[in-house]
Amino acid sequence: MNTKETLIKTLHLQPHPEGGYYKETYRSQGNISKEGLPSAYGGSRNYATGIYFLLTSDSFSAFHKINQDEMWHFYDGAPIRLHIISEAGVYSQHTIGRDIQAGEVPQLVVQGGDWFAAEVMGDDTYSFVGCTVSPGFDFKDFVLPERKELVTLFPEHAEVITRLTHH
Ligand code: GUN
Repeated sequence: MNTKETLIKTLHLQPHPEGGYYKETYRSQGNISKEGLPSAYGGSRNYATGIYFLLTSDSFSAFHKINQDEMWHFYDGAPIRLHIISEAGVYSQHTIGRDIQAGEVPQLVVQGGDWFAAEVMGDDTYSFVGCTVSPGFDFKDFVLPERKELVTLFPEHAEVITRLTHH
C-alpha cells in the first residue's frame, strides 16, 4: 500500500474544500454550450472531467451536491463509505472498495442533485479513489451547505448530517 504522503507528493494532490486532497486528471477539450445544458448550469461546461481524490481517516468529505452525476472509482487503501440523501430526502449508504463479496462496489454513481458525504472505513488510513463527472466539473455547480441549512431540509437525518458537516 502506498502512503498518504507518497500519493500527495507524487501525484501533486491539493487540499479540496469539501475535505481530503485532489488533482484534476482530465478535462475534455470540447465544450457543451449553455443552450445545450439544463438551466441549472448557467453557462457552458466541458464535456467531462476526472479527478484523483484522497481522503484520510482524520477527516471526511462533508455533505455537498453538484448538478452532475458523479461516478466514483476505487483505487487503493481502505474502503470509503458514501452517505447519500436524495433530493426527495431518502438516505442510503454505500461502500466503495474491492471486497465485492462483502457488498463493497468498485464503482458507484451519485445522481446529480443528491447530497453526499464520504468517510474512510478505518482508523489511521486513507482511501484513494477517482471521481468523474459529465458535464465537466465547475465550482459554480458545487454547493457546500451549512449544517443548519441541511438539518432544516432533512430533520429526520439530523444525526448523520451533524456528524458529516464541518460547520
Ligand atoms: N474537481 C474539483 N472538485 C471536484 C469534485 O468534487 N468532483 C469532481 N468530479 N471534480 C472536481
